[in-house]
Amino acid sequence: MDRFAYINGSYKRHNQAEISIDDRGLQFGDAVYEVYSYQNGRVLDDDLHLNRLERSLGALGIKMPITRDSFKTIVARLVKMNNLKTGLVYFQISRGTAPRDHFIPKKKITPNIIITTKSMKIPDNSKMVKPINVISQDDIRWGRVDIKTVMLLPNCMAKTNGREKDCEEIVFVKNGVVTESASSNFFFVDSDNNLITAPTGDILEGITRNTLFDCAKKLGLKVIERKFSIKEARQAKEAFVSSATQIVRPIKKIDDSVIGDGKNYDICSKLYDMYMKIIPKIVE
Ligand code: PDD
Repeated sequence: MDRFAYINGSYKRHNQAEISIDDRGLQFGDAVYEVYSYQNGRVLDDDLHLNRLERSLGALGIKMPITRDSFKTIVARLVKMNNLKTGLVYFQISRGTAPRDHFIPKKKITPNIIITTKSMKIPDNSKMVKPINVISQDDIRWGRVDIKTVMLLPNCMAKTNGREKDCEEIVFVKNGVVTESASSNFFFVDSDNNLITAPTGDILEGITRNTLFDCAKKLGLKVIERKFSIKEARQAKEAFVSSATQIVRPIKKIDDSVIGDGKNYDICSKLYDMYMKIIPKIVE
């Protein structure tokens, strides 16, 4: 079946959707993106993702190029055209097209908008049957990782390096402190069942991360946003990553250390179930 993409007002076959070679996103990484999950008619946290899209654009001095309702209408149409059952919705908005120049154009240019969907099995993580191993790596990314830009080369390199060591994710460490993972936020559970995660600043403030804070509250668990070392994380009772695509994914090993007893993901699993329980209320 043909797969369609939205590009600057048109719906094109995925392999025929084109962008100018002078797109500033292509040449300078002057673009932001968003990803959220789609599951049988439910868009997970889409309003929160659109809020962050607006924030990311604002940080680069770009206005939302179309209304929120237009974004939602396009997504609904693409979902239909692509017969999407479960998978991802991807948005990418660049500053626009201009002759290559490091100076950001003074004159307003029209942002380039790309929206795609990707069919993907969303793993049912409720049983936590697929824990991952992670390795720690230096966080060599730029200082504004709070903005969701497409400048993901350090993330791609780190993740690829991890996979060579049988690790599906990595944990970034900056000046001795854990920040987050290459495409997810990092959490661990301490001996008092508190959820520990890095404070905002040197991380992307994950939408799933924040929704999990609500889940934790409902489960009577305390969330503590604070700095911690990789050594502390390795001694955790449980550890996991969170993202729009994984929701919650337990970690079996960090570097050479097995987390907890290596098979108990009780809190992780409760968080996942609570997330799935509260999500329809959020999108209603
Ligand atoms: N990544 N941190 C980083 C560096 C990320 O790239 C992501 C998401 C997250 C989690 O954010 P959220 O919960 O809003 O998905 C944290 C997406 C899934 C991606 O790049 O494909």
